[in-house]
Amino acid sequence: MTQPTETLTATPQGIARAARLLQDGALVALPTETVYGLGADARNGEAVASIYAAKGRPSFNPLIVHLPDIDTAKRYVDWTEEADRLAQAFWPGALTLVLPLKADSGLSSLVTAGLPSLAVRVPAHPAMRQVLQTLGGPVAAPSANPSGKISATTADHVRAGLDGKIAAVLDDGACPVGLESTIIGLTGPCPALLRAGGLPSEAIEAALGQTLEVVDGAEIIAPGQLASHYAPGAAVRLNARTAGPGEVLLGFGEMICDLNLSPSGDLTEAAAKLFDHLHQLDATGQTIAVAPIPNHGLGRAINDRLARAAAPR
Ligand code: TXA
Ligand code: MG
Repeated sequence: MTQPTETLTATPQGIARAARLLQDGALVALPTETVYGLGADARNGEAVASIYAAKGRPSFNPLIVHLPDIDTAKRYVDWTEEADRLAQAFWPGALTLVLPLKADSGLSSLVTAGLPSLAVRVPAHPAMRQVLQTLGGPVAAPSANPSGKISATTADHVRAGLDGKIAAVLDDGACPVGLESTIIGLTGPCPALLRAGGLPSEAIEAALGQTLEVVDGAEIIAPGQLASHYAPGAAVRLNARTAGPGEVLLGFGEMICDLNLSPSGDLTEAAAKLFDHLHQLDATGQTIAVAPIPNHGLGRAINDRLARAAAPR
């Protein structure tokens, strides 16, 4: 499928057009507070299948379903007390909950890749929320990047990876958080951290009053859990203090480097800039050396993405 990709803006006309395209089964890249998502109507099997085709995902891996509010989420999953506590505390926001899928959900089975569970999220981004409300239905959306590549945090990143493969991109500037949502599994005996992300796990543990089980990557079939994921074309070297020959340096804190995630050492700023800086340094074709990042708060999710970007492939 080759078609010109329309650029829409977050005006009433742009929102209406995005919702209309989704309703008609087309793919639309949508801004969220975490990263841009590649959206399709989650009830439309053909539309969901075309997400996999556009991304070049090698197999059907489950997708996150985006919803306008908690009440709508309850229509699709079996709600629990823990889900309620987390949703009340952090929705709308950078948190995804995996819960048992309801039998009569009406969702395409491709969304869950046949699993008995469903990942749901109520996003905070105003333009995304308006699209969800206008469509009045669930939107399945993985990150809007070709499979295995760096996630998109601007409409330019989306076009660079998917131009001509999707109907439209709703451009509403850079994503404020810059890292994918934190995924919590609520289908087992205790809440599990399935993916570190834009909401620090410390905040989730505080809201639950208990520590999260950290699930062994080997048990998960999730693509975000694959060792090599979020990979730039260039090689990546971690814990670098200086750039060697043929390298560009991605810094953190006060230092001499090619691009700095946060000169003041602020992890929130670093998260917001991570994927954009990786996209920019990737374009140099040189090896990307990355300075050490503190491993707490959002630093955990940043280090998780960097480790995957550096993994052998
Ligand atoms: O911030 C985000 O989460 C972005 C925006 C667009 O919402 N989306 C995103 O989607 O990062 P994606 O497809 O790139 O990552 C979704 C992750 C995958 O690792 C997938 O395997 C996992 O969620 N997942 C989805 N459904 C699941 C389920 N039922 N059980 C376990 N993991 C699931
Ligand atoms: Mg992704």
